[in-house]
Amino acid sequence: MHNQNTPKTAHESAVEMRYLVMPNHTNPQNSIFGGVVMSWIDMAAAMVAERHSNRPVVTVHVDDISFKAPIKIGDHVLIKASLNFVGKSSMLVGVKVFAENPFTGITRHTTTAYLAFVALDDIGKPIQIRGVIPETDEEIRRFAEGNARMDEMKKKNAKKI
Ligand SMILES: CC(C)(COP(=O)(O)OP(=O)(O)OC[C@H]1O[C@@H](n2cnc3c(N)ncnc32)[C@H](O)[C@@H]1OP(=O)(O)O)[C@@H](O)C(=O)NCCC(=O)NCCS
Repeated sequence: MHNQNTPKTAHESAVEMRYLVMPNHTNPQNSIFGGVVMSWIDMAAAMVAERHSNRPVVTVHVDDISFKAPIKIGDHVLIKASLNFVGKSSMLVGVKVFAENPFTGITRHTTTAYLAFVALDDIGKPIQIRGVIPETDEEIRRFAEGNARMDEMKKKNAKKI
């Protein structure tokens, strides 16, 4: 296992998951329920946060999810999640959802979401975690945007209390 203080790259914790859309995932129009996609997004993003921090994590905020195209029964759903930004105990994970028709090979990007997680110590309190090393130009851009997005999330959260 890594030393828990040693920074990791975003690549090291990234997660990809695939699902086949079955009848129990869909509404009477044979399109997937939004809540099913949201739970897959939360699960993939939580795995990224756990892989990065090597700690148990909880979701503290989910930033505006919009569904840009329907996902139909029989589609393959690809979820790509990776770490965008790390605070002290908090992490911002970006998630992209794609729907692939396995018969035509046509793939559509249907959803983007950003989720914040907090890593917990053994008594359930926030714990400081390792940093992230953005390597590629895209990761560097995501890190800068993630910093700003996390500030916005914290402001929104503060207003609610
Ligand atoms: C996670 C939890 C233990 C944090 O406790 P807390 O007393 O609020 O801790 P803090 O105020 O010190 O915040 C810890 C970190 O989370 C960040 N944070 C808290 N709420 C946030 C939010 N809504 N959005 C983004 N970041 C948030 C803080 O900025 C801080 O970041 P940093 O350590 O990187 O600087 C507590 O909020 C909790 O248990 N929430 C419920 C989580 C849960 O059960 N989720 C499942 C879905 S219901």
